[in-house]
Amino acid sequence: MERKRRMRGYIVVCLLFALLMSTGCTSAQQDFSSEERPYPDENMTVIGVSQLGSESMWRSANTASIQQVFTKENGYFLMYNNARQKQENQIKAIRSFISQQVDYIIFSPIVESGWDTVLKEAKEAKIPVIIMDRNVDSDPSLYTAWVGSDFTEEGRNAGRWLEEELKGKNFSHSQVNIVILQGTPGSTAMLGRTEGFQTVADRHENWNILACENADFTTAKGKEVMSKYLKKYSDIDVIVSQNDDMTIGVLQAISEAGYTTGTGGDMTLISFDGTKSALEKVKSGLINVDIECNPLLGPYLEEIVRKLENGEPVDKINYVEEKIFTQKNVLSVLDNRIY
Ligand code: AHR
Repeated sequence: MERKRRMRGYIVVCLLFALLMSTGCTSAQQDFSSEERPYPDENMTVIGVSQLGSESMWRSANTASIQQVFTKENGYFLMYNNARQKQENQIKAIRSFISQQVDYIIFSPIVESGWDTVLKEAKEAKIPVIIMDRNVDSDPSLYTAWVGSDFTEEGRNAGRWLEEELKGKNFSHSQVNIVILQGTPGSTAMLGRTEGFQTVADRHENWNILACENADFTTAKGKEVMSKYLKKYSDIDVIVSQNDDMTIGVLQAISEAGYTTGTGGDMTLISFDGTKSALEKVKSGLINVDIECNPLLGPYLEEIVRKLENGEPVDKINYVEEKIFTQKNVLSVLDNRIY
């Protein structure tokens, strides 16, 4: 690519060292303190990746997928930073990538808002930004491409599945009582899944959403919020848990309270992501349905970078393929699930 900085090798190394000295060791995938650190040479494409954290099994799989494609063997020098759930850390990491004149910036925004300034800075520095997983509410002219899931469609899929599931079912009470555990407030995953499910819920007068609270996409918080729901409501019919990690916490809380979920259980349980450990629970009948969210974005990202390197056009918006898993089809995917 025309703007690749050929003279930057030595500068990058010096800046990296200065950065590490000022911040302590980063959470970089590349261990910069290691003697085997791969120095960027003229032919390497330097990629700065700001990951939002490591809150879930999905996130670990997403990180691994990126690290597997942007390797030295494939011609890349990967600078990886884990922002540990803080937007300010992501902005700091992106600024450090800009000052180190990386070739591309890739990041997964923790929330949608608040990126305008740093995206403008990247644009002024002529560094293409590729957004992955969640999205931003900034003007699309500020980034080159986005790749990730259609979170609203995932939410709609959860609603449509429930619609079908409830057909012909009789409840002792006239309403279907639903509780929702949401992921990180302000994140595209939480906003989309909530909106999509709500769209379907709005079509059913008897769908009664009792509660909808943040549980941070984590198991610990999922357990805490579900325990609270169980103390407060004695007649929950359906649980919508916006990721598998929270669902694991939900299952712990439910089992401790002496209830059951899933096929033939006291409550219907809907989850999102489709990680291996959750799909095992779909297979055993504890989780009724798992709406897939594909974390394996590395190959998509690498293809976009490769095209840009070759001067080829890229699509601005790139949705990844996703499925819906129930006991009926889960075996088709379980054996080959790597995360
Ligand atoms: O943005 C994707 C969501 O974030 C996944 O559903 C969740 O597990 C992750 O933490």
